[in-house]
Formats: sequence, C-alpha cells, structure tokens
Amino acid sequence: MPDTLLTRDVAVAAAIIRRGGLVAFATETVYGLGANALDDKAVASVFAAKGRPQFNPLITHVESIEAARALAEFSPLAMRLAKHFWPGPLTLVLERKESCPVSLLASAGLSSIALRVPAHPLALDLIRAAGVPVVAPSANRSGAISPTTPAHVLASLGGRIDAILDGGPSTVGVESTVVSCLGAEPVILRPGGLARCRIEEALGMTLRLAEATPGALLSPGQLESHYAPHAPLRLAATSAGPNEALLAFGADIPAHAGAMENLSPGGDTGEAAANLFAALHRLDALQPAAIAVMPIPDEGLGEAINDRLRRAAAPRRHPTGAK
Ligand code: TXA
Ligand code: MG
Repeated sequence: MPDTLLTRDVAVAAAIIRRGGLVAFATETVYGLGANALDDKAVASVFAAKGRPQFNPLITHVESIEAARALAEFSPLAMRLAKHFWPGPLTLVLERKESCPVSLLASAGLSSIALRVPAHPLALDLIRAAGVPVVAPSANRSGAISPTTPAHVLASLGGRIDAILDGGPSTVGVESTVVSCLGAEPVILRPGGLARCRIEEALGMTLRLAEATPGALLSPGQLESHYAPHAPLRLAATSAGPNEALLAFGADIPAHAGAMENLSPGGDTGEAAANLFAALHRLDALQPAAIAVMPIPDEGLGEAINDRLRRAAAPRRHPTGAK
C-alpha cells in the first residue's frame, strides 16, 4: 500500500470507504479504523491491518438511532439508553436483525452486533457521506495503546491504511462504554468514556460489570492483555525509581527526577481519561525501564482508566503486544 494520506476532506475519505479502503478517523473517544461494514473484504482487511484476532468482533458506527434500528433489535431499555446517550461514547450490543446487511465478520460469528453513534462532527459527516455503516475498531495494532491523535495512528498503522481523517485530538480519550442489552438486565462489558453512574442514573438501576457476573458473556476483546506500551507498567506506585517514568495523578506527587506526566494535577478523572493514552505514548517513547503509575480513584471515568491500566499491566502473550 502507498503512503497513508493525511486529510481533513470528508468527501475524499468517504470515497475511499465506499471503494473498500481503510480510513482512520477522529471520534470523540479514540481514533477508529473505518471500513464499509457491508463489504466482507473491507472488513477482513481491518482485521489484517490491525493484526486483530478474527474472534474479536467490531463496533459498527451509524449516523442515527433510525439507522441503528435498521440493523438490530432494540428492547425498551436499549432504546432508552440510545435516546439518552447517542451521539456519544456508548456502544450497545444488541441482537442482529435477520435482515441486517452488516458483514458477519464484524460480529465474529455471534448473533449480536455492537452499535454506536459517535459524537464527533467529522465522524458523523464521514458516515453520512459514505452512505454506509462503518465498522471501526480503535486505529492501533492489536494489543497496543489506543490512538487519540493522527500522529499516534501514523506511528502504529502508517503505510498499512489508505488515509487518516484528521479531526484533532480525541476529547474523551478512552474508548466507549460497551453495554450488552442481550439479557434481562443490561450489563457493562467494557467500562469506558461514559461513566457508569450516568447510565445508572438514566435507567434508575444499578449495573454490574460482566467480569463480576459469573457465567456472563464477556466482550471477546476484553480477554487478553491490551492497551500495552512496550515498557512494563507498575501499578499503585507511591514513588518511582531512577530508571522509571512516573505516570502521576493529583496534586500530591512524589519527588522524581526522571520523566513524568501528570494525568490531572487537579485530580479530575475526566481530564485524566483525556490525557491517558497520549501520556502513555509519550512516556513509552522514552523507553524507561518501567512506568510507575500512581493510584487513580475509581469514580467517574476512573473505572475505565483503571480497567485500561490493569490490562496494560497484564502479562503479555507476545512481547510486542501484537495479536
Ligand atoms: O470508542 C470506541 O468504542 C472506539 C471508537 C473507534 O468507536 N472503538 C473501539 O473498538 O474501541 P474496539 O474494536 O477497539 O473495541 C470494541 C469492543 C471489543 O471489546 C469487542 O470485543 C466488543 O467491543 N464487541 C464488539 N462486538 C461485540 C459483540 N457482538 N458482543 C460483545 N462484545 C462486542
Ligand atoms: Mg481497541
């Protein structure tokens, strides 16, 4: 594949999607790697470009609730969530309609489909201009840190994809919250950019994490080490060694002479989420012996941040994090 084009032109990006190409595009959560969801070959090439295992299904992005209803069955609860939070950082896992034209590869053999209406205006423009639903996993090599800028995408997938639609840095900074509406009660499959308390408030009920629910279906993508920098992560650090980089949070920071990033000096988990992946990318580029991570409270987007940090610190099957 020739060099990856960096563009702000939605029409150019949409034409590439329509002809089966791969376009990374800005969303409010992280950059997505977009392809025509109706085109088996295009969807297959998303898995190939990322080195993603085929058992891990993709999120299909659409422009509106109406467009989503053409693809999947909405329970009353699912409809309530869609009306409250779309466009936004929420993905709903629903039963595919029998007539759903989205490639079965995107569902990885499941009878369900994950749907999201993103809030970034450029993402919405792209989906509308393409005129098709757009599958989009995060635009990084499988297992690596998710991208929140075009530069991150280029470093991970440059030369492997056709174009990047530049919409500036992603403002939310962590992936969408994935909620399964397949069972009697909705279950959070992946904590993310929409805080659990906001969903609970909208539904008037408490929600469980799938991981805390014995026998529940997990998001297949949640099973492995993920979001991993090259440097090992040391969690719950109260200080950092001389060869370590420090990923800090809050006002009360241990003295450290080496590299340091503070996710939020004011102790705000929303700000910390927005900074998380960019800070990991920057510290990792310095090739420290390890990244020492200070504790971050579980409140608000802290739940998603701690989920990503735990996975980044998990034992790796492959040293590079690929596959
Ligand atoms: O914010 C986001 O969600 C970003 C942007 C680009 O929209 N996308 C993203 O995609 O994070 P990805 O592929 O990195 O993560 C999708 C997650 C995975 O954990 C996958 O297993 C889960 O959604 N998923 C997709 N379809 C599913 C299904 N039918 N059932 C259960 N989990 C599903
Ligand atoms: Mg991902």
